[in-house]
Amino acid sequence: MQDKYDSMITGLGFAVPEKILTNADLEKIVDTTEEWIRTRTGMSERHVADENTATSDLSTEAAKKALAEAKLDAKDLDVIIVATVTPDTPFPSTGCYVQKNLGAVNAAAFDISAACSGFLYGLTMADNLIKSGAYKNILVIGAETLTKITDWTDRSTCVLFGDGAGAAVVQPSDGESGIIKTLIKSDGRLTDLLIMPGGGSRIPATHESIDQRLHYIKMEGQDVFKHAVKAMGGAAVDTLKAAGITSKELTLMIPHQANVRIIQATAKRIKLPMEQVYINVDKYGNTSAASIPIALTEAKEKGILKKGDYCLLVSFGGGFTIGAVLFKY
Ligand code: ACO
Repeated sequence: MQDKYDSMITGLGFAVPEKILTNADLEKIVDTTEEWIRTRTGMSERHVADENTATSDLSTEAAKKALAEAKLDAKDLDVIIVATVTPDTPFPSTGCYVQKNLGAVNAAAFDISAACSGFLYGLTMADNLIKSGAYKNILVIGAETLTKITDWTDRSTCVLFGDGAGAAVVQPSDGESGIIKTLIKSDGRLTDLLIMPGGGSRIPATHESIDQRLHYIKMEGQDVFKHAVKAMGGAAVDTLKAAGITSKELTLMIPHQANVRIIQATAKRIKLPMEQVYINVDKYGNTSAASIPIALTEAKEKGILKKGDYCLLVSFGGGFTIGAVLFKY
């Protein structure tokens, strides 16, 4: 296993809105059942932001916790990267709102759009910015308020999503811990499988586009499922191979939390026992870019992710986007 590292995670934090929507609550909104949702997805409940909470608010709360753990003053941040598909506004970036909230006056701030893989795209960028030698203190946030673009009349999607944010401070490695391998990939042939069609330059907001419900998530669930299983498994295999290790040397896998069946298939593909896979999709639903940093923070807080552990993060998302990060904690 590689023993030279460029960057490491020095602080983690997450935030979710207070309000919880259970499967039983959803039974009152659409034609669904508690049992269908639980058995088809593994989800029991999800957190939902109120009308006054935007993505930058959850991001800021998560970021403050990560900065506190890293013992880093926001003024010393060089870069803020927010991965999101639910920005506060199309522009300015959510990163700039977070910068303002934190008083991170010396940072460059921007967003990346890679759906559920966004946090791993952000970690990959942070690792390489630190490798370049030009940047030291980087805040990577994965944050979403997906319930704001959820069509509450569409039972095939509205039961799936939740809101939240997770943040990581990435700094030069201390030599003991660090990022070992990163992988990011996309397949733009699959853009139509998972999309919010309205609100961009293709279909700007009009009365018509709103009447046609084009400002909500549209998903071909079964196709997404098939591609997700293939993509997550492939990314996990390729990353372990690139690092020259097998899953036997892995302590923990923290996958994107979209569906427990996709997670099980990914673990099976790399022959990793489910006891070594962190799952919290039951409590938060699919929070897209926030799902991995929320799970990562929880695993650390519960003592499941410990110093010296080898951990694999793996994701897929709309685009299609694929990501994996292998690190020693
Ligand atoms: N409640 C009850 N029945 C439902 C519901 C619901 N909420 N939703 C769909 N059904 C019905 C369908 O209408 C269908 O009925 P039919 O057989 O009479 O036609 C039946 O259940 C089966 O539907 P499928 O779509 O085949 O169900 P499937 O087992 O594929 O599960 C699911 C659907 C959970 C969406 C699954 O396909 C999945 O998890 N896909 C991947 C989703 C995902 O990971 N998305 C990532 C988004 S990440 C991002 O980038 C934002």
